Amino acid sequence: MTAAQYSDADVDRFFDVAISLVERAGILVLHAFKQPSSKVTTKSSDTDLVTETDKAVEDLLIQGLSKEFPDHKFIGEESVSSGQKFELTDAPTWIIDPIDGTTNFVHRIPLLGICLGLVIEKQLKAGIVYNPISGDLYTAKHGKGAFKNGFPIRVSNTDALNKAVICTTLGEHNFKDHGEKYLDTALSNHRKVVLSGARGIRTFGCSSINMIYVAQGSIDAYIEYGLRCWDAAAAAVIVKEAGGYLIDPTGGPFNLMSRCLLCAGEEKLAKEISSLFTHAKFEPESEAVYY
Ligand code: IPD
Ligand code: CA
Ligand code: CA
Repeated sequence: MTAAQYSDADVDRFFDVAISLVERAGILVLHAFKQPSSKVTTKSSDTDLVTETDKAVEDLLIQGLSKEFPDHKFIGEESVSSGQKFELTDAPTWIIDPIDGTTNFVHRIPLLGICLGLVIEKQLKAGIVYNPISGDLYTAKHGKGAFKNGFPIRVSNTDALNKAVICTTLGEHNFKDHGEKYLDTALSNHRKVVLSGARGIRTFGCSSINMIYVAQGSIDAYIEYGLRCWDAAAAAVIVKEAGGYLIDPTGGPFNLMSRCLLCAGEEKLAKEISSLFTHAKFEPESEAVYY
């Protein structure tokens, strides 16, 4: 089957299987979260953590989806970290972050998401973000709206930074590649946001939750540099379907593989943030994937 032959009904079928697997994975995460601690190992740096639960969730999702859909492909954070080739084709591809917010998980901070994004023919088609600790399930399919536990959600209509609460980070993970130069830029961007009169800056330690909070109108914008595609794939669909404005921080079109993003409830606010910030440059991780 060529990619163009996948219909909405096919996406519905893929999505339903994915939801049931994500719910099963949620039981694993919730059970582990209730234990006093997890065994933690580090990956690319001391701020890049992984636990047995991350791996178990990714295995459960990949095995369950492969069983139902043998021709589907996967880009999973833990598989790639363990050396699997990062390969993007036109086939239905699940982009998986088994636990987004692993540091939160390890520190028992209840802000995390099991994230599953579906890309077909290099276009984002569907997204699922499930926080089993809060029990909140966020879902969206291209052109069909965004939902929290089955109820529609919508972005805020705040259109100026001096009325906004925004999310951004100082980018602990970016030191490995960009060193202190990156920190100077990030601190100066923070300073500019404060001087602009923004109501607040938040950092939830979980990119998918940051994006979900934009999607449901809890915060007004989110900007981050240095992300990987699995941090954003699922939530990007949810933000767009909730009416959000999602772009590259420099103002160009959003590309899931460009390692950075800016999203906001309103275009005017996104543009204000885009022109205020000094932008960090990251090499794209593959061919572009658009919404
Ligand atoms: C991280 C979180 C964090 C973001 C990092 C990500 P992980 O993902 O989303 O908010 O700032 O860039 O790597 O490692 O917890 O899956
Ligand atoms: Ca992540
Ligand atoms: Ca993760």
